Amino acid sequence: MKAIELIKELNEGASTPERTCDTIKAGNPERELFKVGVTMFATVDTVRQAKEWGADMLIVHEPTYYDHMEVVTEETPVILAKRALIEESGIVIYRYHDNMHFRDVDAIAEGELHYLGLQGKLEKTPYSASGLFVSDTPISALELAERMKKDLGIAHPRIAGARDAKGTHIATCFGTPKGVFELLCDDSVDIVLTGEACEWKIAEYARDAAALGMNKSLIVMGHIGSERDGMRLLAERMKEKYSFETRYFECGEVYTYAE
Ligand SMILES: [Fe+2]
Ligand SMILES: [Fe+2]
Repeated sequence: MKAIELIKELNEGASTPERTCDTIKAGNPERELFKVGVTMFATVDTVRQAKEWGADMLIVHEPTYYDHMEVVTEETPVILAKRALIEESGIVIYRYHDNMHFRDVDAIAEGELHYLGLQGKLEKTPYSASGLFVSDTPISALELAERMKKDLGIAHPRIAGARDAKGTHIATCFGTPKGVFELLCDDSVDIVLTGEACEWKIAEYARDAAALGMNKSLIVMGHIGSERDGMRLLAERMKEKYSFETRYFECGEVYTYAE
């Protein structure tokens, strides 16, 4: 199977927007595939690891060159060196972003909820592409954050607002989508999960809501912690489906901590 043929199959069932970031960022689309890597980010480290493994292709969720549409306005030393590394590796890099999100069930949210082991139903909301998850069992923000540490490997999920009150309506704003504040303001929502948040606005709203006696909380998972499990699940499914070798490369969280 060629890279371009795999891309076509991966995109089945998605309602891709006309202007999409899901394009090949490097390499020859006609390349025959024997080894395919999957990762959240084409970091310098994941590219090096994929190259060492002998990857023909690397499927990534996020930008390689620090811009959503990969518009490079200045060839900085980092961009030049990274591009040289990628080109020298010959690996086909394909961004698989919109085609993960724009589906009946957002494939990133599916992976996150799958590895969190939550049972319930993911419903559409007008605010977030990922949706509103209605859990079969009430759960508190603290219990959810503990699961994130244990099952998603997030070092420090951060909670603003009510820690211990249990709720069933969990808004999923994985990554950095629009609509986080609107979902937090929505009466029917108990907990909002997001990758990144504007602290002075969104986290402080959750803190005040809880202080006023409302069952409302925000969990900030970090961008990678909030999306990588969608890619992890993709790799698992590809291993079952395809005859070429598939390997998931862990890029790790972007921050390290003093403790
Ligand atoms: Fe993202
Ligand atoms: Fe995403």
